[in-house]
Order: sequence, then structure tokens, then C-alpha cells
Amino acid sequence: MTPNKSVENADSEIETAIPGTCDSGWTACWKQRTLPEKLLLSAISIIFIGFFVAMIVLVEIYLRLEDRLLTAGNKSFVVTDDVIPAGSLIGNLTREPSMCVTLECVEASARILTALDTKADPCDDMAQFACGGWLERQARTPGGKDVVLVLENLQASVDHQLKLMLESPTKPDEIKANDKVRGYFASCMADRQDQVRHASVKKAVDELGIIAAPSEWDPAQWDLTELIGKILNVNGAPLFDLVVQVDDRNTSRYVLSVTLPRQSGIVPQFHSPVPRDLLHHLDILRDKKERHRVKRQFLGMGDVQLDNHDEFPDFAIFESLNHPDPSLELHNPFLPDANFLQSIQQLSRDARASAAFRLMQDLGAFNSFSVASDYRKEESDIRRVISSVDQLLPSDRDRKLKQQSSKILNYYTVDLLQQNFGFINWPVLLRKTLGKNVPMDTTVVVHYPDILHQIQAIVNVTDPRIMHNTLLMLVVRDLALELFKAPPGMDKWSFCIQAVKGGFGEVLSGIYLQYFTPAQLENYRVKAEEMFVALKESVIEMIQQSSWPDSITKVKALSKARNLKPNLVAPSIFSNQTFLESMAAQVNIDGLDFVASTWQMYRLFRRDFFDIYSKPVDETTVTWQMLAYPMIANAFYLQHFNSMVLPLGLLHDPLFSLDTPNYLGLGTLGFIVAHEIMHGFDNSGVEFDEDGVRRNLLSPSSQQLFQQKMKCVSNQFSNAFRTEYSINGTSIVLKVDGELTLNENVADLGAIKAIVATQTRMARERGPAPNLPGLNYTHEQIMLINAAQAYCALITPQAYALILGMDEHAPPHDRVNGFMMNLPDYGRIFNCPAGTRLNPKSKCSVW
Ligand SMILES: *[C@@H]1O[C@H](CO)[C@@H](O)[C@H](O)[C@H]1NC(C)=O
Ligand SMILES: *[C@@H]1O[C@H](CO)[C@@H](O)[C@H](O)[C@H]1NC(C)=O
Ligand SMILES: *[C@@H]1O[C@H](CO)[C@@H](O)[C@H](O)[C@H]1NC(C)=O
Ligand SMILES: *[C@@H]1O[C@H](CO)[C@@H](O)[C@H](O)[C@H]1NC(C)=O
Ligand SMILES: *[C@@H]1O[C@H](CO)[C@@H](O)[C@H](O)[C@H]1NC(C)=O
Ligand SMILES: *[C@@H]1O[C@H](CO)[C@@H](O)[C@H](O)[C@H]1NC(C)=O
Ligand SMILES: *[C@@H]1O[C@H](CO)[C@@H](O)[C@H](O)[C@H]1NC(C)=O
Repeated sequence: MTPNKSVENADSEIETAIPGTCDSGWTACWKQRTLPEKLLLSAISIIFIGFFVAMIVLVEIYLRLEDRLLTAGNKSFVVTDDVIPAGSLIGNLTREPSMCVTLECVEASARILTALDTKADPCDDMAQFACGGWLERQARTPGGKDVVLVLENLQASVDHQLKLMLESPTKPDEIKANDKVRGYFASCMADRQDQVRHASVKKAVDELGIIAAPSEWDPAQWDLTELIGKILNVNGAPLFDLVVQVDDRNTSRYVLSVTLPRQSGIVPQFHSPVPRDLLHHLDILRDKKERHRVKRQFLGMGDVQLDNHDEFPDFAIFESLNHPDPSLELHNPFLPDANFLQSIQQLSRDARASAAFRLMQDLGAFNSFSVASDYRKEESDIRRVISSVDQLLPSDRDRKLKQQSSKILNYYTVDLLQQNFGFINWPVLLRKTLGKNVPMDTTVVVHYPDILHQIQAIVNVTDPRIMHNTLLMLVVRDLALELFKAPPGMDKWSFCIQAVKGGFGEVLSGIYLQYFTPAQLENYRVKAEEMFVALKESVIEMIQQSSWPDSITKVKALSKARNLKPNLVAPSIFSNQTFLESMAAQVNIDGLDFVASTWQMYRLFRRDFFDIYSKPVDETTVTWQMLAYPMIANAFYLQHFNSMVLPLGLLHDPLFSLDTPNYLGLGTLGFIVAHEIMHGFDNSGVEFDEDGVRRNLLSPSSQQLFQQKMKCVSNQFSNAFRTEYSINGTSIVLKVDGELTLNENVADLGAIKAIVATQTRMARERGPAPNLPGLNYTHEQIMLINAAQAYCALITPQAYALILGMDEHAPPHDRVNGFMMNLPDYGRIFNCPAGTRLNPKSKCSVW
């Protein structure tokens, strides 16, 4: 039993994904990925793979190369691509007995070689050395994007495969659920369904309430709690969200949490690690006229002629970064900071609010405002309330830092909630959502009590009718609009896949798994497990060899490492047809009416979500239905279960091929596995014990030493990765935020050591692995190059600045150099003299 802990040390941690803020993509977010944030639920602290932000698309290279590699019957092959370093791939491979010449090996060699920039010095800039060739090629590609990342592309390629499966007809031997899911996907993809969708949105909103004009308003009929309850039950969360999470004081039960408003149903607001929504708005703003228009709108200015001095200063920096021309006229150069990010986010929300008003006008919802000026006043009143709620939302940086600490856990009871936040009748709200009476002494965690107080203050001073209309408009802005049009930067099919994952993730997983034979799945599982076991062993050795923890701390840390559980590939539930049928049994799909079907699923989803509250925690359900699905190309560490999840979606990509010499797989997949394991021992991880209960692993004296190590890492990253721009005498510094990226960097530092140790041990135990054709590097070098290449990324300055401000991972280039420069063996492996940039005399090390 968890001792009855006091509020301050009983807190839980993070779920990496809080509703409404699940910006790391659905992956991070529980079903969120799903419709509703399953994620949330998951209070499980997920820590994703830090991967996402980064990887490049090696796949692309590799596809382009494929048709140039001519494999003949005699196994010699010719490469004609002039980008490949001359001669490197041409040879008589059969000559070399220890040479791996399988298709996988040949492709891997080609991929690695073409990405290299051999003119760069790995002692100075490993990221450039490993990725320069690839970057150059990307830069030559016309119509470039702001950012090209591998992991996103991995998911995109899995999603594309899912799309093809959903577009093919259901075969007679498939379960009925598959047919339903295909019907839902088709209804999402269908063009020119606006009439149908309009009618459905009107119906859905009308069921919640009618937009009221002053003349029709009957205060006696209105009840805020009732309206919020209805909205929560269709997966909306306009003022706050109510979610179910694993309780980190006792991980076999759930606890209720009141958290931030959530501004989307299917697609988390900023759905990709590098928020494409924001990049989209940045793109718009590159246009000078549009900048002026936006600025006028922001400042409430008329249609005046603006001169250069009125340039939106925020964007000048990007212009200068794009065109580093010292003579550039730049006024008020701007350092991208939280305010800047906030204002771009606000821009995106405002654009959606405008669209919501247009839609509701089209639907006649405002027809009772017969005088135009009445309507205009109403719109401006509603928009004022909406924007005051928006402005309460914390910046991404603040939110992420808070999630990493126990500050997010503020324990209330229903009774206390009522005393502090009387604008809602909490017992009634809980009854309406959970479907049962909840005792007044039930624990409720409030993530942001200050914000909830401010929301209460807004409600208190707002005319109830305006509040009523505001809530309905928020439903349209945050839930309905995305059902008409995919968010900016997202293709329609990709949005529709997302919708299917949200509503029918289990069935879709079943369809995905059909693609693999049981023998293939077993092969993936065996190999993934082998990798997991080997890396876990190395981590255990690293802990054993650490000199700073005292003996009690070491025992606890070791027992946490030994107790770590793997969740690999896919569990058997996804091949249980009875289970899969039951997942779709209650939904009726109207082939034309995507909105109505989605609304139905929203209700079911929320009902299941709230139902789970009364049940004991089931790890498989939480892991595989709430947090991840087999088709997710990502990996996770789950703090509450002390487990790591490695889904099939990541394993079967060529980049992570396990059919190549083990030093290759260790560099990519092994690095990720080790990274996730190390999250159990980062600044947040040490607060949880071997069972996932929030009980600190560190004794007070070890805690102090640990904090010094944290300081080393965070200072080092803040200082090592700064770029100074001097623009007309004004200096601007962009730098990595050592504090925000701390946990990821700590996980990377441990992971890179772990893969080197594992490779050494494997070579000792199994003898030398085969070489790869054309690669004149040691196996250790190739492993590190492969690790670095998994993070190659093409990133424009504006995307770089966004990543610095909102991603808990350092930008990929800096991230790679950062973990390499702390690897004790790096100097030996690449023959770098001590004191070179990547073999500095003082390194940071934690475990
Ligand atoms: C944890 O919660 C479960 C279910 O509520 C309960 O049976 C168990 O006794 C609790 N364990 C501890 C350690 O409190
Ligand atoms: C082997 O390669 C040579 C050219 O390098 C080619 O002429 C020959 O046909 C190939 N042999 C087979 C069996 O494909
Ligand atoms: C390739 O290897 C075979 C077998 O060792 C040898 O007979 C042949 O001469 C080699 N060809 C070339 C072009 O090196
Ligand atoms: C540099 O900035 C100064 C003001 O700080 C301005 O007067 C001058 O025109 C700028 N020069 C250029 C080349 O933009
Ligand atoms: C808002 O009103 C509620 C009751 O309606 C009251 O308990 C609360 O103190 C008020 N809060 C603020 C911030 O005005
Ligand atoms: C399959 O799923 C059903 C429904 O969830 C369950 O009752 C049954 O036990 C499962 N069968 C197997 C073999 O796990
Ligand atoms: C391989 O690399 C070593 C050391 O970097 C160099 O001395 C040697 O000439 C290279 N061999 C080939 C065939 O390029």
C-alpha cells in the first residue's frame, strides 16, 4: 500500500500529454491520438521517444536509390548516382567472406554513404558529417518544406499503407468491423459533402443549445454546469477538461483530473512535433501584405498605409535568418520567445474563430440578430471572452516544464473543488459525466488551479447569455470545424487516417496486423526482445559502475532497472476477432455523414473513457488502447508501469531493420530503446520507484549529487548551442534551452553510452559482425553514424526557432552533437584529439 502521503510528496508526474495540449502528436496522446485524448487518461507519463522531432527521411533517399542499385545474379552491383562518393559502392562483394551482401545490407550501405558529408570533420560537427550529403540533396529539392524529419515520415509511410488498406474492398473472410471502418474512412474522404456536413453540425450544436439573441434569452432555463456536462460528453472541453488518469500514488487505480481546456477533437492542436499549424501561419506571414493586414487586425488599426517601420518586428528576424544579408534593414530585431510563439498560436486560434462564425452564419444560427450592428456586437463580445480564455493558457515551455514536475498535482476533494470553484456544481457535473454519484471526499487532481480561478473570474463577470453563446461557438471552433477541413499543413487523407485511429484504433490495428504473418510478427518480437534485453543489461551495468549514488540509492535504481518491462510489437488482443467486433459494434456509420458518425463516436468514446474510472487499472488496456497502438511509429517509457513500449510501426521500417549486422540496429532502434529506458532515470524518472509509484529513488545525499549532474547537462547545452546573429550591429542569440530539454538530453547521454557498451559486449561474445559493402569505417563508427543519421533534419530558421521555444528535444543537429560530445569513448572511436569540439575535456555524465 502506498502510505498515505501528504500532498506534496505524493504527486504524480507527468503525463506527457495533457489534454488540450497534446502537442506532441497523437502518439503522445492517448487515444488521442484519438479522439479524445486518450491520452489524457493516461496519466501515464509517457515519454516519447525523443525521437520524433527528429529524424530525417532517410527513407526517401533510400527509395530514390533503390532503382539505381542494380543487383545482378552474380551479386555485383553498380551504382550510377553521382552523389555517392566515387568508387565507394563498386566492388566484388562476394570476395569478402565477412561482408554482408543481403539486399538490406546493400541498401543500408547506400543510405549511409549518400547521407555523409566526408568533407566535414566528425571531431567538430558529427551531425554535419553524418547528414551533410543528405541535407545538400534536400536543399536542392524544389518546393522544400520547413522541416523534414524522419520519424514523422516513418509514421506517414505507415499511414499511407493504412490508407491503401482502407481503400481496398473488404474481403469476404474479414470481420464486419473492418467494413464499418472502411465506410467511416470513405465518409471522411468524400468530397462535396458540405450540405450534409452543415446539416449535421447544425443538429449537433442544436442538441447542446441554440445561439440565443437577447430577445430569446430565458435566464431561468440556463445552467452552466448542465451545458458544460453536455459538451464534455461529446468530447469538448471549452473551459477545462475532466479526465481520468492513473493515480501515481497507487497505480492500480485511476484518479480524476481537472485540466486545461482542450481545443480539438480529432487532431491535437499542434499535432506534430514541429507544429505545422504554426509554420503554416509563419508562411502566410512571410507575405508582406499579409503581415500588414495581421498587424492592423492586432492593433485595431484602420486601413492605413504602413511604412517599413511598421513591419511586424517578430518576423524580421526570420527574414534576416533566411537571407543573412548584413545590409538588411531590420528594425526591432526580435528574439523568438514565448510571447512570439503565443502570438502565432493566437493567430491560428483567431483564424479558426473567424471560420467558426462564418460557418454558424451560413447555418443561420445568428438569424435572430436581425440588425447587423447587433450581430457585430455579439460577435465581438463572444470573441473577447474566447480570447480571454485563450490567453490564460500557459506557453508550451511552461506547460512542459510543469508536466515534468510534481507541481501539476494539486490534490483536492470534490468538496474542496466546490468551495474553491463554485461557478460549477461539481457533484452534478461528475454525475452527468461519470454517470454516477461521486462521494464528496473523492480525490480530484487539479493541474492548474490558478488558471481555473481565472476562468471562474471570467465566468463571474460575463453575461450568462454571452457565456452560453461563447461555449457553443467554442464547440464549433474546436470540434466541428476540423471535420470540414483538415488543419493547415495536413493532407486530407492523413487527417482521415487520424480520425479512424481516434474512433476505431483497435479495429485499424487489427487491419494493420493482417499485413504481417504470425511468423513475421514473432520474428520482430524475438529480435526486439533481444535488443531490449541487451540494452537493459548495459543500463544495469552503467548503474552499477556509477560512483556517485550511495548504496541505498544504487540498490533502488538497480531494482528499478531490473524490474523494467517491455511491451513489444503488438499484444494478442488485436488478433481476437470477438474483441475487434465488439469495438465497432455500437457505432452506426452513415456512409455520407462523417460529422454525425464522428459525433456518435465522440459520445461513445467519452462514455468508455469515463466508465474506466470505476475499474481497476489494466496495463494492457492503458498501454495498447489508451496510449499506443501497434501502428504507431514511436516508442514510449511509461512511468506508472515502469515499462517501455515499442510498437510494430517503428520496428518494420528499413531504418530499423533488424536483418542487418547488429551494430546498425543498435545505432537506430537500440538508441531509441536505451533512450526510453533512461527516461526511467532522468530528472523526472528518479521520482518513481520500480513499481511506478511516485517514491523518489534517491537518498538526500545522492539527490544533491544528482542535481549537480543535472546542472552540468543543462548548462552545457545552453552554452554549447548558441548561434549569434549580428544584424546591422544588433546582436541576436538563438540558443538551446538547457532546462526545457534536460530530460531528453539526460536520456540521450545514457543511451549513447549504453549502445557503445552493448556493441562491445556483443562483439566480444559473438565474434566480429560482418562488414557492410563500401563502408570503410569501424563498426563502432558506423553505429554512431547511423545513430546520428536517424536525426538528420532539414530545418529552416523559423522552424529552428519554433523548436527552440516549444520542443523538449533540442533541435536535431544540436541534439546529436550534444550526445556525441559527452560520450566518453567518442574521442577514441573517431580519433579526435582531446579538446576538439566533440571531444571536450569536460564532459557531463549522469549514469
Ligand atoms: C490501490 O488501489 C486499489 C484499488 O483501489 C486498492 O485495492 C489497493 O489497496 C490500493 N493499494 C494501496 C497500496 O493503497
Ligand atoms: C555478372 O555481372 C556481369 C557484369 O559485371 C554480367 O556481365 C553478368 O551477366 C552477370 N552475371 C549474371 C549471372 O547475372
Ligand atoms: C570476384 O570474386 C571472385 C571470387 O573470389 C573472383 O573469382 C573474381 O575474379 C572477382 N572479380 C573481380 C572483378 O574482382
Ligand atoms: C542600421 O540601423 C540604424 C539604426 O539603428 C539605421 O539608422 C540604419 O539605417 C541601419 N542601416 C542599415 C544598412 O540598415
Ligand atoms: C465567482 O463566483 C463564485 C460563486 O458564484 C464565487 O464563489 C467566487 O468566489 C467568484 N470568484 C471570483 C474569482 O470572482
Ligand atoms: C477475445 O475477446 C473476447 C471479448 O473481449 C473475450 O471475451 C475473449 O476471452 C477473448 N478471447 C481470447 C482467446 O483471448
Ligand atoms: C580506409 O580508411 C583508412 C583509415 O581511414 C585509410 O587509411 C584507408 O586508405 C582506407 N581504405 C580505403 C580502401 O579507402
